[in-house]
Amino acid sequence: MDTCLSSSSNIPSKMKAWVYAHHGNPVDVLKLESDVDVPQVKDYQVLIKVVAAGLNPVGFKRILGLFIEADSPLPTVPGYDVAGVVVKVGSQVTLFKEGDEVYGNINEKGLDHPKRYGTLAEYTAAEEKLLAPKPKNLSFVEAASIPLAIGTAYEGLEKTALSVSKSILVLGGAGGVGTLVIQEVAIYNGEIGDFDFSFGLEDGRSGLFTSNESW
Ligand SMILES: NC(=O)c1ccc[n+]([C@@H]2O[C@H](COP(=O)([O-])OP(=O)(O)OC[C@H]3O[C@@H](n4cnc5c(N)ncnc54)[C@H](OP(=O)(O)O)[C@@H]3O)[C@@H](O)[C@H]2O)c1
Repeated sequence: MDTCLSSSSNIPSKMKAWVYAHHGNPVDVLKLESDVDVPQVKDYQVLIKVVAAGLNPVGFKRILGLFIEADSPLPTVPGYDVAGVVVKVGSQVTLFKEGDEVYGNINEKGLDHPKRYGTLAEYTAAEEKLLAPKPKNLSFVEAASIPLAIGTAYEGLEKTALSVSKSILVLGGAGGVGTLVIQEVAIYNGEIGDFDFSFGLEDGRSGLFTSNESW
């Protein structure tokens, strides 16, 4: 992505974006277009100049057509995760202003009508409540790798209802979600200070954690 940052005074009406007009293998159906409309912001949305976008399995599955019933109409710009710079704010936005560096997952519900104009584009729009200030110690690329996966990791841990003496086996512990589950458990361990960790399945793919407290 071009990292030359815009302000509201020079936002173009058209942008480059990855688009699919038919479902299928992304190699076949995903095209880089240069005349896609820049999304309009609604009252509670900001327009983000995309610096980095994250890729997640759900994006791939969506392009394949596995969620047609709840998907956005075609053609669609895919992509959930973004890190970038706010270049325009809606009339009701209070949390951010032009120039702020933000990151987030632009879809509140990943499989319930995700936005038609996703993050694999020069610009994307998102509700302010879905965004957070980008930490200064993270690059844009690092920040864009986090939002959907860390939310998934957190929801998964909540569902385990981790409690006294329970163990969690994290399958795929080296993957996007798995690494974040392990880090969240580590943070939790720091807070309550009473966790047993067993790393060490030889392929590094899994970890076993035993809790002495409730999640
Ligand atoms: N990313 C998200 O935000 C998100 C959200 C909702 C649901 N999910 C689902 O959660 C799952 C993981 O997503 P992810 O983003 O973490 O994917 P990922 O980054 O590709 O990680 C997948 C992990 O699974 C491991 N793995 C693959 N095949 C395996 C096997 N046969 N035996 C043991 N381990 C195996 C991989 O190990 P190697 O790297 O060594 O191959 C890798 O560590 C997917 O089913 C995805 O659809 C993800």
